[in-house]
Amino acid sequence: MNQSASSVSLNNATKMPILGYGTWQATDAELEAAVEAALEAGYRHIDTAYVYENEKVIGKVLKKWISSGKVKREDLFIVTKLPPGGMRPEGVSKFIKRSLAHLQLDYVDLYLIHVPFAFKDIEGDLHPMTSDGKINLDLKTDHIGIWKAMEEQLDAGLTKAIGLSNFNISQITRVLNNARIPPCNLQVELHAYHQQKELVDFCKKNKIVVTAYSPLGNPGLASFLDRFGKKVELPNILKNPVVNEIAKKYNKEPAQILLKHIIQRGVVAIPKSTNPQRLRQNIDIFDFSLDDSDLSKLNALDAGVRLLDFDVFSGVKEHPEYPFPELK
Ligand SMILES: NC(=O)c1ccc[n+]([C@@H]2O[C@H](COP(=O)([O-])OP(=O)(O)OC[C@H]3O[C@@H](n4cnc5c(N)ncnc54)[C@H](OP(=O)(O)O)[C@@H]3O)[C@@H](O)[C@H]2O)c1
Repeated sequence: MNQSASSVSLNNATKMPILGYGTWQATDAELEAAVEAALEAGYRHIDTAYVYENEKVIGKVLKKWISSGKVKREDLFIVTKLPPGGMRPEGVSKFIKRSLAHLQLDYVDLYLIHVPFAFKDIEGDLHPMTSDGKINLDLKTDHIGIWKAMEEQLDAGLTKAIGLSNFNISQITRVLNNARIPPCNLQVELHAYHQQKELVDFCKKNKIVVTAYSPLGNPGLASFLDRFGKKVELPNILKNPVVNEIAKKYNKEPAQILLKHIIQRGVVAIPKSTNPQRLRQNIDIFDFSLDDSDLSKLNALDAGVRLLDFDVFSGVKEHPEYPFPELK
């Protein structure tokens, strides 16, 4: 089975490929070649965000592929996100238009609110700081007003679908209770050590497809945070002995086992790799299935380990909509 045949249905009657290509933490130079390699390998779902500052490079490659006829626009599924600095009703139209211009597209397939908290909108500064070294928060965040503005983008044809990212159950419930168009997707951290069982069940009940970010546990995250002066020790799931034992049994790589475990739950996964061999490996997971006993072993690895708490933005936990109360 190839990946384009493997998709999940969204509540707006469109389909989303269950395996996508993540693009965070890649430099422009490596990403241009990597997006080419990803499209060659069969990825049709690409995940980006305004704050990744890589939409222009992705747009350049998409333009080349669409205008040469190598791929049709309607066969692609492009996701981007509203930045924290755009978290007010008037910010939604401003930032989706900028993202579309960067991507050289008339519409995206899915537009997400990236995070439930908000920064001040300072032109040219995605991560504005106060004089005491804290992130410059905008504390008056109105999710319902922002969601109405998200619905307007869908009405205007700038996106085919709208959804949320990093929202918790009570924040999603508030949006659901006030939405004309309910969110169709929730993108959250999800991997073998943080399987988000309660959140996934909640989303299934509410017809919200879940997308797993950091599906491999982002083995590069600790060195990325180190660059911002934040020293953390994070577990490497790819080295877990249970995962490695299962990989040997199926003659697959540990990353392939981790991704298969996610998609067999009906959850979308968006692994990032700029290495052509690894990005091909990550999509080559449609020729086997994990049996029930291996699924049970992988299910048992869940330890509620959250890798990304956004604390790299000093003071972010003071925002009233910081989504992880257990980390406050
Ligand atoms: N909504 C949000 O707030 C949010 C937050 C985080 C991420 N995301 C999205 O989710 C995507 C994926 O998450 P992520 O980038 O945090 O983490 P990830 O996909 O779990 O891990 C990426 C890391 O794994 C390495 N890797 C990839 N494939 C591998 C393989 N087969 N074997 C060994 N190592 C492998 C990559 O290195 P190489 O590149 O060198 O292969 C990279 O260091 C992001 O790129 C982004 O699009 C969204």
